[in-house]
Amino acid sequence: MNIGILLVAFGTSYTDAQKAYENIEVKVRKLYHDIEIRWAYTSNLIRKKIKSEGQQMDSPAEALSKFAADGYTHIAVQSLHVIPGIEYETLVETVNAFKQMPKNAEVTLLGEPLLFHHKDMVETAKAIKSIISANGGKDEAVVFMGHGTHHQSNVFYAGFQYYLNQHSKSWLLGTVEGFPELEEIITEMKSQKLKSVNLMPFMSVAGDHAQNDMGSDEEDSWKSQLEAEGFKVNITMKGLAEYDEIIQIWIKHLQKVMKKLEQ
Ligand code: CO
Repeated sequence: MNIGILLVAFGTSYTDAQKAYENIEVKVRKLYHDIEIRWAYTSNLIRKKIKSEGQQMDSPAEALSKFAADGYTHIAVQSLHVIPGIEYETLVETVNAFKQMPKNAEVTLLGEPLLFHHKDMVETAKAIKSIISANGGKDEAVVFMGHGTHHQSNVFYAGFQYYLNQHSKSWLLGTVEGFPELEEIITEMKSQKLKSVNLMPFMSVAGDHAQNDMGSDEEDSWKSQLEAEGFKVNITMKGLAEYDEIIQIWIKHLQKVMKKLEQ
């Protein structure tokens, strides 16, 4: 048995944001120091962009082929996505397709994204709690910017709000490309008479959306819109993958898969 681990993220072209991924790799390597660990990005656009900048990153399909060609027989694929959205669904399809492929690894198993089962939501909400108290944001609203999607799994954002509410009613999760939008968040903040807000990304890395759509001084950024509504805005420019408490949840999913592989 020759085991390999494939860490799969959406990807980012921001060098600073890539640090978050490196953080994950360090943690995984600590647990599985004698196992080959490789990366793949699911975003075609990001892979193209970083290629034009002289960097090379495989797609999940490319990485799985290379693993097989290099003689690996058992592959643990770990999704580093936040919700089981379109990127995860495509990864499921890729992994399933490889199961059918001749001369491929004997066993390929996939680990779930951050939010999947009820238990993940509970643990992620708890992790968020420790992150927020570490950031000293106790008395202010915390607004998270999630990505959002047209995929049916967009309900995970509204669903996760329920778990956040168990800790605080003033922790609010909105999305850039789905529902709820900032408009709903602002309405909620006004009804709670909140005056100041700590704005944080609810994405693996603080990449393009966090830097531009969330925290920039551009007129339509969340920061600018919130300030225009009279809120005092504080920015925490750190992706979820920069917090050990969150990484632990992805790692637990990987450990589950590794246990099955080693059986
Ligand atoms: Co996007």
